Amino acid sequence: MRGGATDRARPDDDRVHEHLEAMPAFLDGLYLTDTLTDLASDLGRGILTLPEEALAAHRLSEADLLACRWTPQAEALIADLTERAHDWLDQPALQRGVHPGMAVLLRTSTDLFRARVRTARRLGPALLHRTAELSPAVRFRLFAPARVRAVRAWRRAALAQPAAEPMATLPEPRREADPAFLPPVPPRPHPSGERAPDIPAERLPRHVGIIMDGNGRWAAQQELPRSEGHRVGSDATRDVVHGALELGLSHLTLYAFSTENWRRDASEVARLFRTMHDTLRDGDLRSLDVRLRWAGSPEGLPVDLTEALRQSARDSRHRTGLTLTLCVNYGGRAELVQAAAGLARAAVAGELDPDHIDERLLAAHLPHPHLPEVDLLWRTGGEHRISNFLPWHLSYSELHFTDTLWPDVDRRDLWRAVTAYTHRGRRHGAARTVEGASAWKGAAV
Ligand code: IPE
Ligand code: IPE
Ligand code: MG
Repeated sequence: MRGGATDRARPDDDRVHEHLEAMPAFLDGLYLTDTLTDLASDLGRGILTLPEEALAAHRLSEADLLACRWTPQAEALIADLTERAHDWLDQPALQRGVHPGMAVLLRTSTDLFRARVRTARRLGPALLHRTAELSPAVRFRLFAPARVRAVRAWRRAALAQPAAEPMATLPEPRREADPAFLPPVPPRPHPSGERAPDIPAERLPRHVGIIMDGNGRWAAQQELPRSEGHRVGSDATRDVVHGALELGLSHLTLYAFSTENWRRDASEVARLFRTMHDTLRDGDLRSLDVRLRWAGSPEGLPVDLTEALRQSARDSRHRTGLTLTLCVNYGGRAELVQAAAGLARAAVAGELDPDHIDERLLAAHLPHPHLPEVDLLWRTGGEHRISNFLPWHLSYSELHFTDTLWPDVDRRDLWRAVTAYTHRGRRHGAARTVEGASAWKGAAV
């Protein structure tokens, strides 16, 4: 009897725990959005409430911001904070298991606050001088349908039992037990004892993208099934992440599964997903100072993998070291189509004049508007193509191709790729090397 009752209670408990996890992130998102929206008026009163660790991570002093100087560091800080707020507000778990009317209210608040974050981001330097307000058209577009949905939901479910209040009876989540608040451990050194080259931060590529290719051929060479190539390849991935942290990279994006990879044998695909799932769950990446993101579509992916990706992103949202974006079920062209559709929708809703569409606006409509341009693209496995990887962000990347098959790679290959990058002269169309992107001669290739 007792056992039966406990079993029936379990799904509710799971949901409550899900809510307890999602709620602090959502509240952090609300608070950060408010802080960013009102930044100009706070600065005008000599008040600065942005997180200190974020200021330190972007090498900004309070005085710089209070003087309302829009420096590259200030721009990077705002990009970082708006990205965080946007992520933290995305807590679909909060809408599960609540009254449908409540779910509409939560969804609408989320959309509203996320729209405020995007407005703050789009203001650029003006954010230091004026409040980021939503246009009446955007407010109307959000509220009008929500009102109708909420009324319908309350009518339909007016007599439903009010939800119990489990939050009051459960203990507060222990912050120190929450993986999001555990202090990160430093990266493990490479077994060879080799250390990362000492490259000054301003010479490092801000964003490195890697097409991790060659797992299948590696497995064939060893007379193993292709899935073994993916499994050993995941060890290489882990080592490269440790190496990226040692080097001090701020953004690393890894191509793990493309929308075209569905053309493979179903059993290879299923095993590959299992390997990814195990890698995400095994605790090594979680313990590091890595903020994990996922780019790609959930369509067709196993639910436990999408859950693991989302959970890892939630748990690591407070990390500030390396932003690691995993491209899983990712297609670059699909992303451009989404941006185009978003712009078209905004134009039809009267929120934007098509004559005002420029590169910045298109970039702001990409699914990951905060992902910086890729400075260095590295592909292993001997192929010289980009295979639908980040077409927007790669337009001015330095390209680096190596023949090594991915499972044979370790962090020292990443260090060599980055060191080679420091010797490139980046001109961006100018006749001379562009300031800040010139070749740095301090490290040997
Ligand atoms: C890269 O290795 C991993 C994925 C594309 C999922 P491959 O599996 O493409 O390896 P090769 O190119 O067949 O050797
Ligand atoms: C690109 O590798 C995709 C990933 C690394 C995830 P592929 O092996 O799928 O690319 P093609 O087929 O050689 O272009
Ligand atoms: Mg391949």
